[in-house]
Amino acid sequence: MTPVQNQLVETVLQRFGPKAATTDAEAIAPWLSDWRGRCHGEAPALLSPGSTEEVAAIVGLAAEAGVPLVPQGGNTGMVGGATPPADGSALLVSLRRMNRIRALSPVSNLAVAEGGVILADLRAAAEDAGRRFPMDLGARGSATIGGLVSTNAGGTQVLRFGTMRSLVAGVEAVLPDGSIHNGIAALKKDNRGYDLNQLLIGAEGTLGIVTAATLRLVPGIAARAVAWVGVESPAKALDLLRMLEGGTNAVESFEILPEKTLELVLRHVPGTRRPLATAHDWHVLIEAVTTDPAAEAPAALLERLLAPALAGLAGDAVIAASEAQAEDFWRIRHSISEAERAGGPALQHDISVPVEDMPRFMVEGGAEVEARFPGTEAVAYGHLGDGNVHFHVRAPRGVDPQAWYAEDGPRISRHVHDMVVAAGGSISAEHGIGQMKRDELARLSAPSRMTALRAIKAALDPHNILNPGKLVTLAPDAARP
Ligand code: FAD
Ligand code: MLT
Ligand code: ZN
Repeated sequence: MTPVQNQLVETVLQRFGPKAATTDAEAIAPWLSDWRGRCHGEAPALLSPGSTEEVAAIVGLAAEAGVPLVPQGGNTGMVGGATPPADGSALLVSLRRMNRIRALSPVSNLAVAEGGVILADLRAAAEDAGRRFPMDLGARGSATIGGLVSTNAGGTQVLRFGTMRSLVAGVEAVLPDGSIHNGIAALKKDNRGYDLNQLLIGAEGTLGIVTAATLRLVPGIAARAVAWVGVESPAKALDLLRMLEGGTNAVESFEILPEKTLELVLRHVPGTRRPLATAHDWHVLIEAVTTDPAAEAPAALLERLLAPALAGLAGDAVIAASEAQAEDFWRIRHSISEAERAGGPALQHDISVPVEDMPRFMVEGGAEVEARFPGTEAVAYGHLGDGNVHFHVRAPRGVDPQAWYAEDGPRISRHVHDMVVAAGGSISAEHGIGQMKRDELARLSAPSRMTALRAIKAALDPHNILNPGKLVTLAPDAARP
């Protein structure tokens, strides 16, 4: 620890007590690597403020001393955004102690949650009040509101409710100079120039530390139905979605996975079972929901709409007969990341292309990568209805993972990203840029985009205090030709 860092930590301990900082290497260790184990860093201290004022004081002290800070929530991010740099130059700032739901009103349909509130806790609190917070993902037991806002997270309910951006009605954050931005009020109309709240959503901790957010709630559900459908191709799956949408607006989730991914989950996640009797090349999980107790039950609705699909679009289908079975189906979907992590070395690409082109991209793109990089296996799964899939390229059997990541990894990822750009898509649909996609963002973005991103960062954080080296560098990127 440098003398300047040490001084900062001592001041924090004196002013805010022993809970606000630790230098204990064992306590810090779990927070130095990302969830997938691809990024590793060092930090001599972990700061854990307990209030917005404490965050503001810490950032103010850091700005004065020139000590960089890395904001962190649940550390479930997929692009190394919350992993500190390897040289120990930055201190970690965890929001996890700030876990209060300040308000939750079924009248206004709003909740005000601090940055460290865990997604599952907010969902449970909303349900207790007869409402829902319609954002869900496999990391719901650890991911925090601050992290979800800062990555503009997606998940499995985007089809109906949009990404985090459409669920955020207000933001409170500490800016890089230590000042507090109070944008927490849920104003339906507010045209005071540039929208700072919107800038902070998806900023990955590079422009501010999100201390609280006002979040939109939706009515609680009267009933839901979850179906598992076997299909022959992503094209048939998309046709199925369009057919369902023609008959109802009750479909909230529509997730696709290939047989290979299902097999991986069944192999690595105890207690999971194949939902259909036989194998199918592709599988789709569908959830339909109603908020109206008098409306047609979602199970009957899905049965009615899926019956004609069995004549061509779908190979087989089952509707969960109980809540427990519905949860079993969802468990398979939400365990894919865990199974992929256990399944061996693989490169993850979180991509989007225009929805109508995604079926072609999944099939032809996968085949092209496998042909060009012999021994690899390409699998794509996820949020088909959003035009976003996770396009994973698994390493050939028997390779040394570290050597493969270092030597072949960048070439393969560049190729996948080039295909995505050629298809008019995005190299980050929902996980953000962090450190893993930073150079690719610079390589593949129009100069106008990179100039604007750098100008925003330089204007708000000229001394590079918040999450330096993530998303965008202040200096012109070497990667740009
Ligand atoms: P962290 O990982 O701690 O941080 C993520 C980024 O946000 C970092 O750049 C960090 O510096 C910044 N940050 C964190 N807290 C703050 C704050 N308070 N203020 C400012 N910056 C902050 N993501 C999806 O979008 N869709 C999915 O379907 C999905 N599924 C997942 C499933 C699993 C099993 C896992 C492990 C992850 C999944 N993710 C998914 C990724 C991850 O859960 C999200 O990116 C989530 O938003 C990260 O929240 P977090 O609190 O863990 O943030
Ligand atoms: C998902 O949809 O499961 C995720 O975003 C996580 C992943 O990419 O594995
Ligand atoms: Zn996803």
